[in-house]
Amino acid sequence: MAQRVALITGGGKRIGAATVSLLMEHDWFVLLHVRNSVVEAEQILEDFERKNGRKAPAEIIRADLNLDEDIAALLQAASNHEMVVKNGGLHALIHNASIYSSEDYASVSLETLRLNTRLHIEVPFLLTQGLLPQLKSVNGCVIGMVDTSLGLAWKGLSHYTSSKAGLRQLMMNLAGDLAPEVRVNCVAPGAIIAADWESEHFASVVEKVPLGRAGEPIDVAKAIMFLLESTYISGQIINVDGGWSVSP
Ligand SMILES: NC(=O)c1ccc[n+]([C@@H]2O[C@H](COP(=O)([O-])OP(=O)(O)OC[C@H]3O[C@@H](n4cnc5c(N)ncnc54)[C@H](OP(=O)(O)O)[C@@H]3O)[C@@H](O)[C@H]2O)c1
Repeated sequence: MAQRVALITGGGKRIGAATVSLLMEHDWFVLLHVRNSVVEAEQILEDFERKNGRKAPAEIIRADLNLDEDIAALLQAASNHEMVVKNGGLHALIHNASIYSSEDYASVSLETLRLNTRLHIEVPFLLTQGLLPQLKSVNGCVIGMVDTSLGLAWKGLSHYTSSKAGLRQLMMNLAGDLAPEVRVNCVAPGAIIAADWESEHFASVVEKVPLGRAGEPIDVAKAIMFLLESTYISGQIINVDGGWSVSP
């Protein structure tokens, strides 16, 4: 029987790492993309091997997604990977890589805006487009990692929230464009793991979460897995936020 193959961007740490581990536990083969987190990614594989007594079904691929040549190399590596070829295509493409920083709107540079739109819109656009034959051949699933900011004013984050809104809309549009061969969905985490600079703000958000706690990376990974397994779901966005988005 064919083994399912997933490519996840930014999979070396945090939510990406939990998703990689869950995929491997469910017998997926993972193309684990990182930019800098090679050591962390190797640790994920070592942990799997220690726990399961077998080689981790994964390969680490490095690419700085700000560089056109690295995107081209990642597309080559993924589309020609022996597991993709052997198993007929790519069953999942998870756009997880992200940047997140706060800055007063008046001083946000064009460079910062471009880095956000680059990583959150251009890269998912180009990777999905470049891997279309491999996704179509096995009725694969694309997942965009967005957030719960849509329609809200998050202070000092216009560059980030606008680019994530773009990713959300890109994914919804592709759910139509790529049907019936490929499903496309989003997962929108709420307060899961704080960035270094936002611990105070994060604590105040968690106080408002109806389920009374921050989420764990595994909570998000399970929603990704649910969408990968749910072959009649496309064009949907699952909030994994403990009810935060509906709290008054
Ligand atoms: N954490 C939360 O509570 C939360 C809340 C809402 C939404 N989300 C979304 O959920 C997803 C996962 O969240 P997270 O906090 O775990 O993500 P994260 O740590 O902010 O970023 C994930 C990875 O993105 C990679 N990355 C950044 N710039 C890159 C570049 N130029 N080229 C290639 N890779 C690059 C980094 O890889 P390296 O480390 O290898 O450099 C990083 O580890 C993200 O899309 C995020 O927006 C998270």
